[in-house]
Amino acid sequence: MRRFIYTMLFLVTCVVFSLSSVSAAEKGDAAKGKETFQNTCAACHGAEGKGDGVASAALDPKPRNLSDAAYVSTKTDEHLYKVISEGGASVGLSPMMAAWGGTLSEQDIWNVIAYVRQDICKCQYKAK
Ligand code: HEC
Repeated sequence: MRRFIYTMLFLVTCVVFSLSSVSAAEKGDAAKGKETFQNTCAACHGAEGKGDGVASAALDPKPRNLSDAAYVSTKTDEHLYKVISEGGASVGLSPMMAAWGGTLSEQDIWNVIAYVRQDICKCQYKAK
């Protein structure tokens, strides 16, 4: 029995580790993320993520230019997840970047991140 428990613990640990090293591109579906982005984020961030959506004129600071690969590649997937889920204020940015965690599911958020990585910034996180 004890051996069984240890084996299970070991397996669970392996699964947790392998999941945490999976990139957004593998966790999310970029095509689905595109739909969510265009419906939910483009009003501020713009259809191409440049930060020039129709609602951006009234915002200060402006929505981030998510197509800026040099900038977005300094951000980890976990950071993007936190900002999108918990809002700008959770990482010291403008509260006008709302918390979407109540509206979007965890999977929706990973889909959006996959879309941003694949089609908007065309970049991955690069450790400095
Ligand atoms: C009401 C306008 C608005 C909407 C809608 C909006 N954002 Fe933002 N977003 C902002 C603003 C403003 C900032 C910049 C905050 C700052 O620089 O202080 C921002 C910043 C960000 C950042 C940058 C985080 C960083 O570390 O620099 C990301 C990523 C982001 N938004 C993703 C999204 C996604 C994905 C959606 C859709 C689910 C979305 N935003 C919807 C206004 C918006």
